[in-house]
Amino acid sequence: MFILSFIIAYLIGSVSFSYLMTKKIKKVDIRKYGSGNAGATNTLRVLGVGPAICVLLLDVLKGVVVILLARAMHLEPWAVAATGLIAIIGHNFPIFYGFKGGKGVATTIGVFATLSFLPTLIAAIIAIIIILITRFVSLGSLVLIILTPIISWLLGSFPLSYIYIDVLIVLLALWQHRANIKRLIRGEENKLGKKGA
Ligand code: G3P
Repeated sequence: MFILSFIIAYLIGSVSFSYLMTKKIKKVDIRKYGSGNAGATNTLRVLGVGPAICVLLLDVLKGVVVILLARAMHLEPWAVAATGLIAIIGHNFPIFYGFKGGKGVATTIGVFATLSFLPTLIAAIIAIIIILITRFVSLGSLVLIILTPIISWLLGSFPLSYIYIDVLIVLLALWQHRANIKRLIRGEENKLGKKGA
């Protein structure tokens, strides 16, 4: 049964709303503009606030839907969390767009929030404060993704298998943000609201 859940999650994750929206509105491939990332932050650069919020919500929804589906299938906790990981992999390496997608942040938020709401909420508040202060979305995204499993573990009210899968999600996010991390270290990361960034 979990194989079916994984396949559905990969296919749902593979639907790239930033790609679809920029194609529809501007007739361009988002992956050739801004940071080249097929995600909400780059949609903000290419299309503006409204479309970016839509993309963010729809990408979050992908994470929510796959976890609810896995739970409806009565999968074991590890398989429910792994379904979320597979959806994020779908978002990052989509079968429909030549396996070049986004960095998985919004879909991760959907997965984390559905698996463990309170830790995600606390981490999201901290991440938003960091983004407001530094204007580095990548930094806030990474803080959110790294903090959620740590807070979940500290609270101790979630299955350990969630935390293990969360750690894989953290590693994937770090890998996907490797260019951002290098830019952050060099002090060259794009700041939110800066022209062309
Ligand atoms: O949504 C991904 C975010 O963390 C960074 O995006 O486009 O600035 O590389 P971007």
